[in-house]
Amino acid sequence: MEKKYLKHIELKGKVVFCRNDFNVPLNENGEIVDDTRLEASLPTLKYLIDNGARIVCASHMGRPEGEKKPELSLKPVADKLSGMLNTKVMFNGKITGKEIGKIKSGLKEGEILLLENLRFDPGETKNGRKFAKELAKGIDVYVNNAFAVSHRKHASVVRITGFVPISVKGFLLKREIDYLSLAIEKPPENFCIILGGAKVSDKIPLILNLMDKVKTILIGGAMSYTFLKAKGINVGNSKVEDDFIEMCSDIFKKAEENNVKILLPVDHIASVTIEPNVTIKMVKIGEEIPENMTGLDIGMDTAQLYTEEIKRAELIVWNGPMGVFEIDLFSGGTTEIAKAVAESTALSIVGGGDTVLAVHKAGVGGAISHISTGGGASLAFLSGKKLPGIEALSEVL
Ligand code: 3PG
Repeated sequence: MEKKYLKHIELKGKVVFCRNDFNVPLNENGEIVDDTRLEASLPTLKYLIDNGARIVCASHMGRPEGEKKPELSLKPVADKLSGMLNTKVMFNGKITGKEIGKIKSGLKEGEILLLENLRFDPGETKNGRKFAKELAKGIDVYVNNAFAVSHRKHASVVRITGFVPISVKGFLLKREIDYLSLAIEKPPENFCIILGGAKVSDKIPLILNLMDKVKTILIGGAMSYTFLKAKGINVGNSKVEDDFIEMCSDIFKKAEENNVKILLPVDHIASVTIEPNVTIKMVKIGEEIPENMTGLDIGMDTAQLYTEEIKRAELIVWNGPMGVFEIDLFSGGTTEIAKAVAESTALSIVGGGDTVLAVHKAGVGGAISHISTGGGASLAFLSGKKLPGIEALSEVL
């Protein structure tokens, strides 16, 4: 039987606490520069409005470490959401207290109040009992609509659920779990994982967890240099995590035992420094990265090789860019992979802030089956970890 989630709850007239992840990037003028996370929360918020809930919305923004930092206020989010929802989102710059209590109890059906940045209170990141109890005051239903923070044991994510009559998944959280579960439960035979980004250490738990499920692992980004070094290949001045070389060798062994194909870059774009207008060198197949140079992107032969694998896949999980994609000179590999994933007939799941940005930069976001809102949370989920924010709900999975 399907477990209860937001769709199964009676909402009319109920005071609903909706935990979202409105942690969106702001520019120096405090303007929102990317509203993907706000967009992703809308189906749940609209459903709550349409079904007569009295809504208390909450989120964190950045890492203010228990202090009130005006530049991390959620005021710009309240303004932006008012426009997106076509209804006024109330905001009074407070999280708890008498005034908030009054507004909460006076909410009419379909009205929304947004609390100030939860992390302005030290109780939030400490999973504080008192703070969680305050947040839960007068709440009938708790909705977790914040997958991206569900790996954090924080008061508004975990502790609060002990003080409310019922706590359920919102649509965003359900969608994330449904898609990501495809990879960890029964993936199809042609399951391809693409991994990139800076640190090999971040991705090891995921590789180990999915080793008996995946067919091909394509590796790019700075993390590929630790793997290449583990194979005895000279990577010049490229970034290597020496402490993980042995682990990479172990992973090659495990891959062989499990019949998993791990592909590493065969050519590279390298340069002496990471700057927009620097002279680059194409390091061709069979050549080594020169001693004074750093590999900063996969080369076109690697992109072609990976594209062939991507074409054969039925399910793709991609986390981490193939190079320093923020700089145009080193973005070619990531763009090629983004296009290949978008053109493939496979079900595609893309996660991690940088990878999502890269997919949008390549203009192919619309062709991806699921773009995860979670970076650390999606890695933790795919690594087989139980996320405390999901475990704390009264209706789990
Ligand atoms: C994120 O941006 O990944 C989430 O909002 C979680 O933020 P955190 O890493 O500061 O907990």
